Amino acid sequence: MRPRKKKNAEKRLAAVSHLLIYDIAEFEAFKDIELEIGCGKGDFITQMALRNPEKSFVAVEKVQTVIISALEKADRLGLQNIKFLNMDVSKLCDIENSHFCSRIYLNFSDPWSHKRHAKRRLSSDFFAELYKKLLNDGGEIHMKTDNEQLFDFSIESFEKNGFRIKNVSRDLHSTEQKDNIMTEYEKNFVAQGLPIFRLEAF
Ligand SMILES: C[S@@+](CC[C@H](N)C(=O)[O-])C[C@H]1O[C@@H](n2cnc3c(N)ncnc32)[C@H](O)[C@@H]1O
Repeated sequence: MRPRKKKNAEKRLAAVSHLLIYDIAEFEAFKDIELEIGCGKGDFITQMALRNPEKSFVAVEKVQTVIISALEKADRLGLQNIKFLNMDVSKLCDIENSHFCSRIYLNFSDPWSHKRHAKRRLSSDFFAELYKKLLNDGGEIHMKTDNEQLFDFSIESFEKNGFRIKNVSRDLHSTEQKDNIMTEYEKNFVAQGLPIFRLEAF
């Protein structure tokens, strides 16, 4: 990154720093949160927070230049019930506190299509184990993707790791979606007429 760009990013981040979690130790205080992993530019999670002011949300995104847009969106909306973590989610393995999430959202996670990269998929054994540690009793994973291979892999992986699957759709938008909040990627895929796959794991 060129220095001017970096400086600009630092300035933008500083302006929204009140929405950032800097230390995962802060998670020790969390109870009953809804967590989005790979929030991108934050359309989904900021709308969730806006529509559900009684709930608390945390969004994780590893790319700084991307999370800045999500942070600025939350700031513009004046949201008080959301925090952001600029980190690879695998770092949450180090957390002592467990079972503090009532919901985990995986929206259009990177498919890592090559077999040798399967471990990096956010529904691989490693991450399924992490989610078991994070989810509370009755907690659920809600996943949407455009990628059928990732979808089938995820069903198999979640079941292998002790989750049950419900509310499966292989073409979410073929029926009327009253409560669905579209992510940036979803809007793009739907505009192209592609089917959206959705599942809930519990
Ligand atoms: C394909 S984009 C989808 C963005 C958004 N969820 C949407 O649906 O529009 C996937 C996002 O997940 C982030 N991501 C992927 N793996 C991650 C990880 N291990 N930890 C945190 N973020 C991750 C990527 O940086 C990227 O922004």
